[in-house]
Order: sequence, then C-alpha cells, then structure tokens
Amino acid sequence: MGLLYYGLQVPSLEVGEGFYNAFGLGTAERGNALVVRCDGREQDQTVLLEGPSKRLHHVAFAVEPGSLPEWQRHLEGLGVRLLDAPAETPGGLWLRDHEGNLLNLRDDPIAPWRRFGTTDAQEVNFGDQVRRVDQARWLTADELPRPQRLGHMLIFSTDLAASEAFYARTLGLRLSDRLTGMATFMNSGPGDHHVFGFVHGTHPGLQHSSWMVSDIDQVAMGARNMADAGHAIGWGLGRHTLGSNFFHYIQDPWGSWIEYSSDMDCITENWKAGDWDCHPAVWAPEMPADFAVNLEEKPV
Ligand SMILES: [Fe+2]
Repeated sequence: MGLLYYGLQVPSLEVGEGFYNAFGLGTAERGNALVVRCDGREQDQTVLLEGPSKRLHHVAFAVEPGSLPEWQRHLEGLGVRLLDAPAETPGGLWLRDHEGNLLNLRDDPIAPWRRFGTTDAQEVNFGDQVRRVDQARWLTADELPRPQRLGHMLIFSTDLAASEAFYARTLGLRLSDRLTGMATFMNSGPGDHHVFGFVHGTHPGLQHSSWMVSDIDQVAMGARNMADAGHAIGWGLGRHTLGSNFFHYIQDPWGSWIEYSSDMDCITENWKAGDWDCHPAVWAPEMPADFAVNLEEKPV
C-alpha cells in the first residue's frame, strides 16, 4: 500500500502546466489529461483533468501487484460499493470514501525514485561534527529544486475520527499522529511519517500535496523561485511539529497549497502514535489565515 498520485480537475490545463513546471515538475499530455511527473521517475504523480472548476478528482493508491481480487473481496466484505472507472482514468478498483471522495486502488508497482547524490560540498557541518572541510557550500546551495517524488497529501475532512477509521479499516493506513482537532496523519508502513491525512474542514477537497526535495536549501530556493514566477503567497520557511519536515508551502492558482518538503521523520512499526495539542510548526512565520480554509466549491 502506498500513495501513487492524485487527479485534480482544473479550469485550465495550460495554467496547471505552467504552475507545475515552475515548481520543478515535468508535464506531458495524455489524451485529454496532463500528467505530472518527477524527473527520473516513471510514475504519474498528478493527473490534471480539465473541468469547470478546480476540485480534487480522485486519489490513487498502490496495492501489491496481483492483489486486486483480494482487495475486491475485502472491500465487498466491508459493504463498500465498487464503481465503474471514469472513462478518462481507467484501471484498478474504484470506490468512494464516507465523504464522497473518489478513490482508486491500482496494482501498479511503486516506481523507484531518483536518488539524491551527495558530493563533499553538500556535506553538513552539524555542531561539532565537521564533515565538510575546504568546500564552500554556498557555491552549490543555489540549485533549483527538482522534486524527487510526491511525498504525501492531505485532504479536508468534516470528521477527523471518521476519516481515520475509514482509511484504517478500508485501505489499511495506520495512524502516525493526531494534531488535536486540526489534523490527522496516516502512514502506509515503514518510511515517511505520513503519506496521507486529513485537515478538519467544512467539506471535501484538496488541502495540500507535498513533494520531497533534498534539503533545506532546495526548500528555500524553490520558494524564492516560485515567488519570482509570480507565486509569492506562501507559508514558510519552517520546521513542522508532526513529521518534523522542513517546509515551504505555496498557494496554487486554485487556492490550495503545494509544499516543498525535506528531512521528514522516517518511522517503522515501532512508532507510537500520539495526540498532540501543539502548533503545526516548531518555528515558522505566521500561518496564513486561509491555510486550512477549503476554497473548493462544495459538491452539489
Ligand atoms: Fe505536508
């Protein structure tokens, strides 16, 4: 189980293409859709579909190759109704969650991602642990980010406990941590602290997607580059509490957020989930007032 990609309906594919390209991602047309991928990774990460307004179209999760019949039995055993695949995004099993979000289980293998190389000049001097000697880091710290992979995404939920229960029972996602009353973070096994989660909101929609870059320099360089490209509204630079990642969010052309992320906590089955009543960031500038406001139209 893992997060594969999300489908996003947007009013203009051209605007979407410009935005994702500026963010450091590649795009290609496929039929009527625009597919977004990371450099060096043969896997869709976002599928943009044209439609009257921006809305989260679906979320695709990977299951073990060959396991779809087993998943079908599991879902039907839970009383989940399976749906026909939308014509523009065929394949796998389709269902709606308890709030109407369209989900797709696919037995596509999770594609390997490009590894970040390290050079002597990228080593970090941390306190007394000096690993970079006679190398001027600033000469290589100005690289524009090319995200390695989609790390996680959060969707809005009107009932955090119900969402946590649905995704645990139905897809087998596990609780990583809760930010009391505000957000719930889920993992799909050893690896990133969270790959999916929920932000409390008025109705379903995409809150943010998050993309892994190598380090704090790429997070900050990405933010500066996006501001230069006209996308100056954001939140960052900061370090999150739950997940611990460095972050900078940029508001996308449709009012949701996209995140450059690095240095996230890596967890195993030994991780103990907790309830935390804290700010979402250890340190950061003030959070924008509409950061957790769902600007997507309410479904009719
Ligand atoms: Fe995030």
